[in-house]
Amino acid sequence: MKIAVTSASGKLGASIVKHLIAEIGKENVIGIARTVEKAKQLGVEVRKGDYNLREDFNTALKGIDTVLLVSGMDEPQKRIEQHRNVIEAAKNNGVKKIVYTSIVGDKNENAFSPVVQSNRQTEKDVQNSGLNWIIGRNGIYIEPDVEYIETYIKEGEIRNCAADGKCTYTSRIELGYAYTKMLLNENLNGQVYNLVGEPITQNQLAEYINQAFDTNLIFNSVSVEAYAKERKEELGEFLGSVITGIYEGIKNGVNNIPSDFEKVTGRKHKKPLELIKEIKEQ
Ligand SMILES: NC(=O)c1ccc[n+]([C@@H]2O[C@H](COP(=O)([O-])OP(=O)(O)OC[C@H]3O[C@@H](n4cnc5c(N)ncnc54)[C@H](OP(=O)(O)O)[C@@H]3O)[C@@H](O)[C@H]2O)c1
Repeated sequence: MKIAVTSASGKLGASIVKHLIAEIGKENVIGIARTVEKAKQLGVEVRKGDYNLREDFNTALKGIDTVLLVSGMDEPQKRIEQHRNVIEAAKNNGVKKIVYTSIVGDKNENAFSPVVQSNRQTEKDVQNSGLNWIIGRNGIYIEPDVEYIETYIKEGEIRNCAADGKCTYTSRIELGYAYTKMLLNENLNGQVYNLVGEPITQNQLAEYINQAFDTNLIFNSVSVEAYAKERKEELGEFLGSVITGIYEGIKNGVNNIPSDFEKVTGRKHKKPLELIKEIKEQ
């Protein structure tokens, strides 16, 4: 049983590879990466795979039984064809099962919606591939909030446009655990699962960060327009509007959804405070 994980040089791909090694051993896990050297430290065989190059995947997926496709990072329209390169190469190589990492969110509501729409198109492509399939819809990672701690401390606040909307944060560690179950358990095939944690407000997020880091942060909500302006100034037009769209979605409740994490893994999703402490200790 050989399982390949794409974007193994990234943090999500690496987490999935590590969890898989613990279950089925190094010799049965293949990392696929655009930048092969960045995935070498995983200690598994690494093959080259740039989503823009179908030929890469025609070679990389030889002898593979199951492939995990981590969604790409390019602009939304481009991603659809990139993902099709992997799906078509999987079909050509006789791969039996494909697991896709999609995203939670609303298709038609905000500046993040084009990303969600492109993910939904790949979901359809995966479902129509003729392979056994499973789709996970990832919640928002909590890692960036922990990595942003120095800025939060400097500013004394967490500031965004989520108002009192609730977000079901997850982490790449939790997702690595869940995707490993999805890759190995055939009873989970043919379903879409929301891989999300407990719903919390930004006020609660600030409280948990304060507990973990012994800080005194408060949450300040600003308008969508004001937040878009400051994010675009700092991150540029595309990323600034995508980030604003994510928080606008939280405000509008699109991230306050039921979790399928326990259905997939057999255990409860870790609590937000536990996630924050775990990332802090890394
Ligand atoms: N849920 C959330 O909150 C959230 C937040 C951010 C991102 N995401 C999504 O999560 C996924 C990956 O996350 P991550 O944590 O692993 O991000 P990451 O650590 O930044 O890694 C990104 C990965 O994408 C790979 N990549 C980019 N373009 C590629 C291409 N043309 N062909 C093949 N690989 C390519 C990179 O390869 P190189 O090493 O060669 O650069 C790298 O392995 C993406 O789908 C992203 O859209 C979700």
